[in-house]
Amino acid sequence: MKHHENPDLLPPEIVHTDALKPGAPDFVETPDIEPLSQDREPFPVWLYLICGFALFMTGSSFTGFEIFGQGLYDQGPGGPALASGSSTQTAEVTDPLVLGKKVYNNNCANCHHADGMGQPGTYPSLVNSPFVVGNKDRLAAILLQGLAGPLTVNGGTYGSAVMPAWKSSLTPDKIANVMTYIRASWGNKANSVTEDEVTKASAKFASHANAFTQAELLQIAPDGPDPSDKK
Ligand code: HEC
Repeated sequence: MKHHENPDLLPPEIVHTDALKPGAPDFVETPDIEPLSQDREPFPVWLYLICGFALFMTGSSFTGFEIFGQGLYDQGPGGPALASGSSTQTAEVTDPLVLGKKVYNNNCANCHHADGMGQPGTYPSLVNSPFVVGNKDRLAAILLQGLAGPLTVNGGTYGSAVMPAWKSSLTPDKIANVMTYIRASWGNKANSVTEDEVTKASAKFASHANAFTQAELLQIAPDGPDPSDKK
């Protein structure tokens, strides 16, 4: 059959009535179609990697993003449970002994050492010191305003170095926690200290501009347990 007999096969620009005219070409070339390129681009490597990672994350979502034992995402309360022990990591620490130990290690241990023993002749020991386990106001006075001058504790004499004041660098709750910690560590057994007690002591000693001396401390209270410390 001749090409032009079926008007559907003609390109749209050729109206079939034209094709029927005498002398009309009985063959119309159809426009060239771009041949398929032979050298097609390979599937890019980065796409492989992205697909792989997506699959990996999908899989790990079944375990709460617990990958190689490491919780990638903590999805918070209601989310999948994370590794054992992580609940204790995220729980807020409120134990004054734990908080106080942190304050101590960050601020006091470089002089009084982690074991509280200090340095003979330079930094007095806090172990079994009447200033540590005794009256709380007295201990608060040392921490808030500092301590200077000759000092005799448990048979050792000191005075070559100064105990810094912490009033401006540690908040009352931190001072209370570190007091609680040193009163209950290394064999010391005195009762805990509250933030309120430190705030009250701070107001009481606010007019005392300089570091305390041993004589002034003994005027605050003599040696012996704090009145609140009923053993
Ligand atoms: C830069 C070193 C240094 C740092 C840091 C320091 N102290 Fe002291 N501390 C001393 C010195 C020195 C004395 C003795 C001062 C004197 O001889 O008059 C002392 C004395 C004391 C005393 C009284 C003496 C005793 O043996 O009981 C206490 C209590 C005390 N420090 C607690 C602390 C606490 C708690 C911290 C941390 C918040 C701390 N100190 C940080 C140097 C330091």
